[in-house]
Amino acid sequence: MQQFLWGAATSSHQIEGGNLNNDWWQWEKDGQIERKEQSGLATDHWNRFREDLKIAQDLKLNSYRFSVEWSRFEPQEGVWDENAILWYRELLRECEGRGLLPMLTLHHFTIPKWVADKGGVAWEGFAPKFLEFTKRVVSSLGSRVPLWCTVNEPMGLAIGKYLGGFMPPATYNPELVSQANRNLFHAHVLAYDAIHQGVTQREGPWKDVPLAVGFAHNMIDFLPARSWHPMERWMTLLCRNFYNRSWLDAVTGQKQHFGITGLLPNPPQLGIALGRKTVDFIGINYYMKVYLRWRFKSNQPATSEVLPLALQFSEPTDKVSELGWAVYPAGLGRMIRFVKTFGLPIYITENGIADAHDKMRSSYLVSHLREVAKSIRDGADVRGYFHWSLIDNFEWIKGFEPRFGLVEINYENFQRLPRPSAELYRNIIEAHKAARGQAPDLSVLDTNFLKYFLQE
Ligand code: FCB
Repeated sequence: MQQFLWGAATSSHQIEGGNLNNDWWQWEKDGQIERKEQSGLATDHWNRFREDLKIAQDLKLNSYRFSVEWSRFEPQEGVWDENAILWYRELLRECEGRGLLPMLTLHHFTIPKWVADKGGVAWEGFAPKFLEFTKRVVSSLGSRVPLWCTVNEPMGLAIGKYLGGFMPPATYNPELVSQANRNLFHAHVLAYDAIHQGVTQREGPWKDVPLAVGFAHNMIDFLPARSWHPMERWMTLLCRNFYNRSWLDAVTGQKQHFGITGLLPNPPQLGIALGRKTVDFIGINYYMKVYLRWRFKSNQPATSEVLPLALQFSEPTDKVSELGWAVYPAGLGRMIRFVKTFGLPIYITENGIADAHDKMRSSYLVSHLREVAKSIRDGADVRGYFHWSLIDNFEWIKGFEPRFGLVEINYENFQRLPRPSAELYRNIIEAHKAARGQAPDLSVLDTNFLKYFLQE
């Protein structure tokens, strides 16, 4: 049996630096990021990846989730950059040398600028072009990669771009939400098949680990702001169904419902994905609960024009992160239980907190891992946990201020400094390894790591 994977996750644009050929770079130049920040050198991971992976090894991680940057592979349409490919080869070699089983994400939010110029993920040519990119990745890196995520948070991406206004091109067009979801799903299906067909030979330390392809699904624990309120209860069901469930139905070969009757058009079904599974595992990215508040005749602007709906990220009694997201581990448990009903292996592909002074991260880690452990004991097939993130990074529209790293980055000199929570994570991993063979039993934490709770 494969060992439980203890990992951390990153994404190319957020850490590498110098990703000047993608849509986010342009968006940053247009002044769309808070404080008008630009990713620039980001964490300079491009030059410091060896140091970063050494830290991961020192923290006793046995896995690392990262993404490859399409705009580096193919900076212009049909022009492939061999240097970029070589760099990712080096990255994989470094993972191998340090005992970090790689989980490779093909698409983590950014697209090459030339793709964006043609209409991005809403462009009908998107999926075939993504397939060409995938084939390049498969032929150049594929033999050494056991775990793959095709797309990261496709639903969040489609909404961020065409409804929420927080991702480029920030066009308000509900029809494109459905279109983007369908194209991303098409891209996912083509990539799933291309990886399984294209990876014919395996090499390296993980050559016997079964090849598995999944996607990373952002899941939110939606709740009615007032449990008695019929409209809020109805919206809660609707959001759970659309946001949390639709992709899971699609990748497991059931109906594809990337629309909402009367609100978002339902795009045509993609025949090649009906009646069969196009994932080998489900990745859960979990960060938050959201209360839905009905604002029928409110004079405050509704969050979206599609529904008279306000989103509330916490209750007054909740502990919140520096982004105002409630710390709510029970939601992770609930999401795992839901995904379990689809009968597939599960990875927690992201989970973490913005906490610059590391005041909450330790207890956050423990409380969320306890939910993971509980769900494993209750029969969920959770095979790994990837904390977001290994290092501080460029948090999309929020810029550099939110600090999600187990490791602090000093942006003046790019020094890396593991936070106390990183040490806690290492201790958890070691405690678990010592009791290998069982579901992670985290009860040990109550006594051994009490001091971390007391710091709060
Ligand atoms: C997730 C993204 C990841 C990071 C975290 C905080 O939605 O996948 O890149 O921004 O949120």
